[in-house]
Amino acid sequence: MTESKIADLLSKMNLEEKIGQLNQYFSFGNFDAEIIRKGKAGSVINAAGALTGTGESKSSDAETCNNIQKLALDTPHGIPQLFGRDVIHGYRTIFPIPLAQSASFNPELAEQAASIAALEATATGIKWTFAPMLDIARDARWGRIAEGNGEDPFLGAQMAAAVIKGFQGDDYSAPDKLVACAKHYVGYGTAEGGRDYDAGEVSEPTLRDIYLPPFEAAVKSGVGTLMSAFLDLNGIPASGNRRLLTDVLRGEWGFDGFVVSDWDSVVELIQHGVAEDRAEAAAIALHAGVDMEMVSGSYIETLAASLQSGKVTQEDIDEAVRRILRIKLRAGLFDKPFTDPDRATRDLLRPNSRTLARQFARETMVLLKNEDDLLPLDSNFKRIAVVGPLIHARSELFGSWSPDGRAADVTPLGDALKQIAPAGVELVFADHADKATHIAQSTDAIVLVVGEYPYRSGENSNVSDLSLPPGQAELVETVAGLGKPVVLVVIAGRPLAITKQAAQVQSVLYAWQPGIEGGAALGEILFGLEAPSARLPVTFPRATGQVPIYYNQKNSGRPIRADGPFKSRYVDIPNAPLYPFGYGLTYTTFEYANLKLSSETMRGKLEISADVTNSGKRAGNELVQLYVRDLVGSLTRPVRELKGFERVVLKPGETRRVSFTLTEEALAFTRADGTKGIEPGKFNIWIAPNSQSGLQGDFKL
Ligand code: BGC
Repeated sequence: MTESKIADLLSKMNLEEKIGQLNQYFSFGNFDAEIIRKGKAGSVINAAGALTGTGESKSSDAETCNNIQKLALDTPHGIPQLFGRDVIHGYRTIFPIPLAQSASFNPELAEQAASIAALEATATGIKWTFAPMLDIARDARWGRIAEGNGEDPFLGAQMAAAVIKGFQGDDYSAPDKLVACAKHYVGYGTAEGGRDYDAGEVSEPTLRDIYLPPFEAAVKSGVGTLMSAFLDLNGIPASGNRRLLTDVLRGEWGFDGFVVSDWDSVVELIQHGVAEDRAEAAAIALHAGVDMEMVSGSYIETLAASLQSGKVTQEDIDEAVRRILRIKLRAGLFDKPFTDPDRATRDLLRPNSRTLARQFARETMVLLKNEDDLLPLDSNFKRIAVVGPLIHARSELFGSWSPDGRAADVTPLGDALKQIAPAGVELVFADHADKATHIAQSTDAIVLVVGEYPYRSGENSNVSDLSLPPGQAELVETVAGLGKPVVLVVIAGRPLAITKQAAQVQSVLYAWQPGIEGGAALGEILFGLEAPSARLPVTFPRATGQVPIYYNQKNSGRPIRADGPFKSRYVDIPNAPLYPFGYGLTYTTFEYANLKLSSETMRGKLEISADVTNSGKRAGNELVQLYVRDLVGSLTRPVRELKGFERVVLKPGETRRVSFTLTEEALAFTRADGTKGIEPGKFNIWIAPNSQSGLQGDFKL
């Protein structure tokens, strides 16, 4: 049905109408209705505010989108518009940033959050989101690490599938579902020096085994669209890479949706130095497999002439149109082009959306240190100082890419803590060191909140130094010197190298940018109404000089564990990170014992199990992780790879047997001959609380 409708439309459309579909229009504050009337755009980005000329910061609304849609339906073939916007970690109900969401290791929650984002965004006319971002990041200097799922392809793939399911559901023609867009295809996180937009180099096996898997998972999950990245990867700008955009994406994976460029990334092929002018840039991108051009207009300006001169073919154009129409049809836009204007009042910021945002925020905060069980703060602490530049934070809790979040929806951090604090506990506030020093003597403990403002991470916000922002290390030093127990809370969009600060305080809770309910969630953890359960989705370096740093590294010929002085090391600091991938504490402790493998030799699959015991005094939630190492390969293999995780909730003293099934397929990798598959040999396997410890066993494949 869809395909015959596409064929029918294509047979009737003239060249101008076809090229129009390939153009995504942004109004730059001055909406030109003629563009829509003349069929010169297939999609409008950030439609809201456009008609009224107020620019992109205004949120979308159904009426504006409906008005534009009427113009589109009035064109000869009545092809509807697809309204796109960056709905990244919530629309009006802002959830924790994606990196924090990954720290939950809870794809189900991520799915529910994406589903609420879809409900809210579609209520205002948006039908397409530019999310999820699936770029693996091994370098925290890169500001966009905040927007992705961290360093691990297995976790990244799980989160990708979950978020896409949340946005799209089983059928994204439903009025409360969005078309998702997996971005930025591909390798964007390899930008050298952590400088966003800069070039990257990556070997083919690493590209295939580390950077591509989350995108492949997205395609398997039925993602409607992908976005091509800005960067130059291995000398070929991603928005002009036919091998990756066509041979791999369509040929190998069978993707039949469409690819949109990133903002201006088609005309940036000129700056990259692979195209002489806009016409050449457009021809390269279209031929590579970029179906829709975001914003810059080079397709609409040049493709007709390029067809005449033979730079592009009719088939290149038709195929791109086909893919775009396919997604519009699947999105149900031909049948249901309009948005019910009453939906916004019903669907934005529903109470249960806030409840989920609070739960999610709680499940993303990672307890990194807790000396003498200072946390949770118990009833011995009657008067607590809350100190630091972020104690009154509201929209600062959102993080980057939250254009539709509103500060007014957020209870300021300090007020939220007050509301959660148990009766009889008094909180006093100080936003700078002098005041903190003044009030500290009369308090029993200090909660010190430091970290990054939202626009210190995210797009184009890279840092050369992963230390706390200027002045904050001094604040921690002063406060730690006051002689009171100190809980350090870090609000941030990336791992910060807090080596010195972590040594100065008793407890460290990494709260990331926790979203609209972040303050209350923090209070619930600090005062022990809930226990932390999150784990690090990225390695925490002890110094900036350690990056890139990641747990699934190669062994080298002279690993740090080897004897003798000549080994891969620094002379000034240890190689080990400050905190490893997968690490996180809670308010109780767990012990692992009795690792058992169903066989010493794996044929097809293997069962691996271990006993996990709650050895502490409180009920608790443990994330049990499965890692493997392939000891000998035709190419060198990582020292560990995550292959599974499972949560157990245990009462004090309770033991549970946790088991995993490992399949041969999970051991496949890109081999020396370029093919993907398994290789027989010896493997190590761990059931572990993080990537650097655990019970180890061995098997043969
Ligand atoms: C970003 C994309 C984003 C797009 C549209 C670009 O600058 O790289 O991630 O979706 O803008 O706002």
